[in-house]
Amino acid sequence: MDTLETIKNRQSIRKFDSTPIKKEDVDKILKAGFEAPSAMNRRPYEFVVCTKSEFWKEMITFKSTCAIMAETPLCILIVGNSNVNPTDEFLIEDCSACAENMLLAAKDLGYGSLWAGVKWHSEFYDALIKHFHLPDGYLPIAVLLFGTEAEKKYQVERFDAKKVHYEVF
Ligand SMILES: Cc1cc2nc3c(=O)[nH]c(=O)nc-3n(C[C@H](O)[C@H](O)[C@H](O)COP(=O)(O)O)c2cc1C
Repeated sequence: MDTLETIKNRQSIRKFDSTPIKKEDVDKILKAGFEAPSAMNRRPYEFVVCTKSEFWKEMITFKSTCAIMAETPLCILIVGNSNVNPTDEFLIEDCSACAENMLLAAKDLGYGSLWAGVKWHSEFYDALIKHFHLPDGYLPIAVLLFGTEAEKKYQVERFDAKKVHYEVF
């Protein structure tokens, strides 16, 4: 797929089949994350790659909108290291750029994906810190789910000329 086609075709998938993702593809998705731009090239992100579902089954209590986590062949937690940039100014942006690269890489490789948000200081956030023993200053930013798509999504046109302003708002 070319880049624009991949961007257009990526949509949130909430039903995966149980086929595991090939190790080489996991590596490609991770590499795409590391290619993202980051403020002052600080790259304040680390990743926890999880292919075992037991933990995510427990997590559904805290994240009921993402029950699919329990049946997803691959979940990757993006952890932002706020010690790299103590002011935290661009931590979310840096990690988000990395997340989008990974979702697009997965689509390009033929997989579906879902971004499961982690609200700051929510029960889910606290449970992730506790389970993964994240050291001080390491913050759970997003959980990305990947797998073979088991639902069909249809493209919708989202371009909205009313939201585009030229020279003046
Ligand atoms: C920061 C963020 C948090 C999100 N959290 C959730 C979530 O908790 N559960 C979920 O089902 N989808 C979640 N999504 C996916 C959005 O619902 C989805 O991107 C949006 O509905 C647009 O659909 P699309 O991804 O198919 O274009 C999240 C997306 C972002 C960027």
